[in-house]
Amino acid sequence: MAILKIAKMGHPVLRRPAEEVVDPTAPEIRRLVQDMLETMEDADGVGLAAPQVHVPLRVVIFHVPAGRDEENPQPVPLSVLINPVVEQLTDEVETDWEGCLSVPGMMGAVPRFTKVRYRAVSLEGEPIDRVAEGFHARVAQHECDHLDGILYPQQMDDLSLLMFSDQLRYHGDVDPDEEETAA
Ligand code: NI
Repeated sequence: MAILKIAKMGHPVLRRPAEEVVDPTAPEIRRLVQDMLETMEDADGVGLAAPQVHVPLRVVIFHVPAGRDEENPQPVPLSVLINPVVEQLTDEVETDWEGCLSVPGMMGAVPRFTKVRYRAVSLEGEPIDRVAEGFHARVAQHECDHLDGILYPQQMDDLSLLMFSDQLRYHGDVDPDEEETAA
């Protein structure tokens, strides 16, 4: 296990599409996921994509802590998605604050689909097929965007709402707990 260095916005590995994992059950993929988990915990993130640790492969991990999403209160346990595909299930979009471990110290208001389906393969090679709503859907879209070389500022429609995290205090609608949402 190791804590890996996190790539920051501007690094080429964050700007290009990642490659499919040929064998999701390979020992090196399991090792990568272990290291990503340790890195995410160390950085207090809720999610991490392999390109963020300089590995251009289609692997993401995330979880949704209990109580993070009032409308969808059940937590989502740590999820490891290999070769995920996200499909929107609604045209409804909600704008909310996001942070990213690759864009440290900043937050932005990002529109995301409120309901998606994602399909992927697990570390055991088993299919994963889930419907996600609310914050769960937001995290899945954020992480999977990393696999296509997209960072959250590229999804914003109002860049005046891209700001340093300590300036969120001027936005009364923001729950201070939401600072811990870097992904
Ligand atoms: Ni991110």
